[in-house]
Amino acid sequence: MPRILRAPHLFLTDVGARHGPLAAIPLPRTPVLVLADPAGVRRVLVDNARAYGKATVQYSALATVTGPGLLAGDGTRWRTHRRVVQPAFHHGGLRDVAGHAVHAGRQLAAEADALPAGTPLEVLAATSRAGLEVVGHTLAAADLSRDAPALVEAVGRALELVVRRAASPVPATWPTPARRRLAREVAAVDAICARIVTDRAARSVEDPRDLVGLMLAAGMDDRQIRDELVTFVVAGHETVASSLTWTLDLLSRNPSALAAVHDELAGLDADPTWDDVPRLPYLRACVDEALRLYPPAWVITRRALADDVVAGTAVPAGTLVIVCTWALHRDGSLWEAPGEFRPERFLGAERRDHYVPFGAGPRLCIGRDLALVEEVLVLATLLRTHTVRPVGPPPRVDALVTLRPRGGLPLHVTRRCAD
Ligand code: HEM
Repeated sequence: MPRILRAPHLFLTDVGARHGPLAAIPLPRTPVLVLADPAGVRRVLVDNARAYGKATVQYSALATVTGPGLLAGDGTRWRTHRRVVQPAFHHGGLRDVAGHAVHAGRQLAAEADALPAGTPLEVLAATSRAGLEVVGHTLAAADLSRDAPALVEAVGRALELVVRRAASPVPATWPTPARRRLAREVAAVDAICARIVTDRAARSVEDPRDLVGLMLAAGMDDRQIRDELVTFVVAGHETVASSLTWTLDLLSRNPSALAAVHDELAGLDADPTWDDVPRLPYLRACVDEALRLYPPAWVITRRALADDVVAGTAVPAGTLVIVCTWALHRDGSLWEAPGEFRPERFLGAERRDHYVPFGAGPRLCIGRDLALVEEVLVLATLLRTHTVRPVGPPPRVDALVTLRPRGGLPLHVTRRCAD
């Protein structure tokens, strides 16, 4: 038990190593299938996705904060809401994200510059602020950005409490002080969302990027809109911060990759724009490789709604299926030198069934393109003028809602040359 709580990603990897990539565990109340087999993952997430739902411990815990929004919900409500918000993520709508991402990259650089000489930047905290800035603007057309930071902070505090509760032996229903604090945080989230929806309903601005406007136009009620807003904060903020942090950490420890990034960025004589993103394939490969080694969504869970057979293994209805992205991405039979940071493996390579940082199939991350453009632009803006150096040995990993460096990540972030 302590091992599961301390390092659940390593525990699941051990299960795979001992029992194979399709480890069926016949627990008395709930059969469990730990899955790190590409064909099996494809069956559950893509080919037979309709036979699997989201009634799992992972998504029930998340739903304490998000309600049955896009990430935690399923069925007809999920299908309808996904169709409603999808236009906000079309290519044209995403172009505006570029400006916010570059601004967030500049902020990161400015934070590093403001530190006394020799003081490292706390990168996890700084990238969290960067992720917050971009998700805030994406959530809301300009005049809603006033509320977005408060919403993101309240959601963050509520999620911390949910994670701590999951690791506590006290039953979730007991009225502990932490549980009362969680209720207060969720009430604060509700109040901010109500204000956002009231403000937006009072305006008639047509903006295809404006998620709240799209949801109001589709006739969704206040509660449904609240659930989706909170879902976008949860899904789009900490994931990006985690991914940016690990990419910077890996670059700081791999001088030849960092030099190749600097060479690529030498082609830019000003901050990058949307049009520069396809011209930065090596930087993009670094992001892809960091997402392989440290997938923020380190586990994806499903509940079998009907009997199924997954890569030859019988899966009775009710089985909890755990896709361990961490284990899949580090499997030596699928990847050459799986523990090494080798961005080259993604240059020009086809995406594969055993690479699923954004999930797959109908529940594929709706924010994938946004996240990738955002990350490339934040990193390009920062690394065009700055370089990174490690402070100490590689950090330990905490597998919480996302993968985080234990105790944060201090890095030396310094100017390369005068602008
Ligand atoms: C779903 C990862 C960024 C919004 C998912 C899933 C994964 C994922 C693995 C699938 C979960 C499942 O199948 O159970 C990531 C990673 C990100 C990222 C690694 C950044 C590096 C974002 C951003 C947004 C977002 C920026 C929005 C602004 C969502 C939503 C879903 C989702 C709404 C649920 C989609 C559905 O089921 O219809 N994400 N995500 N994500 N993500 Fe992301």
